[in-house]
Amino acid sequence: MTIHFIGAGPGAADLLTLRGRDIIAACPVCLYAGSLVPREILGHCPKDADIINTASMDLDAIIAACQVAHKAGHDVARLHSGDLSVWSAMGEQIRRLRALDIPVSVTPGVPAFAAAAAALGQELTLPGLAQSVVLTRTPGRASSMPKGESLSNFARTGATLAIHLSIQNLDAVVSDLTPGYGADCPVAVVYRASWPDQQIIRATLATIAEAMQSGISRTAIILVGPALSGEGFSESCLYSTHYDRRYRPQSADSQWSDRGHDDD
Ligand SMILES: C[S@@+](CC[C@H](N)C(=O)[O-])C[C@H]1O[C@@H](n2cnc3c(N)ncnc32)[C@H](O)[C@@H]1O
Repeated sequence: MTIHFIGAGPGAADLLTLRGRDIIAACPVCLYAGSLVPREILGHCPKDADIINTASMDLDAIIAACQVAHKAGHDVARLHSGDLSVWSAMGEQIRRLRALDIPVSVTPGVPAFAAAAAALGQELTLPGLAQSVVLTRTPGRASSMPKGESLSNFARTGATLAIHLSIQNLDAVVSDLTPGYGADCPVAVVYRASWPDQQIIRATLATIAEAMQSGISRTAIILVGPALSGEGFSESCLYSTHYDRRYRPQSADSQWSDRGHDDD
């Protein structure tokens, strides 16, 4: 049997991969991170599945539940919100499971930052404005930041920042970023992207604190950077009419002409 880690997506029940859905449907046990995993997704579990909300469990209890399922020969669907590659606590669970020789698999999910960008209808990398996206957070009660990963350091890059787990630190975010990005830099806060009660607040670093009068205190992403303006960028070469490329050679002596179109 296997513990299948599955990214359950940002909120909307249909933002789950088909693979994730099929694994959930095949597992007699489901452990889900209760605070953010949408309940509709649990509807994919078999009718008689053992469904456990891990919100109030500690790591020992979660691993113990996996061991019980393992001994019984049951596969487990382990659901976390968004994708598993960021802030899922999957790393510590996998480390323990591997030490116990319990097999694991990982199925990715739609991350919250992508759902937030989709809610805004925006690309976060725009030619000439930003070609990097930094997924980061500010320090929390239980999590310090490694040296070097400060917002003011990231601000020096000019990249688009997707700041998680930090809406309660908005004042510090603004003061750390303003020297690097400037007070006019666009900001978007997306609350519960893809959920029915999603909210979007757009402002600048100078005005976001005042714009945030709605009492949002969790489950929001703060996106900051010049790309959030959605204007003032160049068109990419990808679809440029005269750009010589593999799939659209511009002349008979193009480096791509004799290579065909499918030789990636
Ligand atoms: C523990 S992290 C989980 C991140 C998740 N693994 C992912 O891939 O996005 C929780 C934080 O992600 C962000 N988040 C999660 N779901 C969100 C959503 N639907 N809309 C906006 N932000 C969300 C918030 O910053 C929240 O504090």
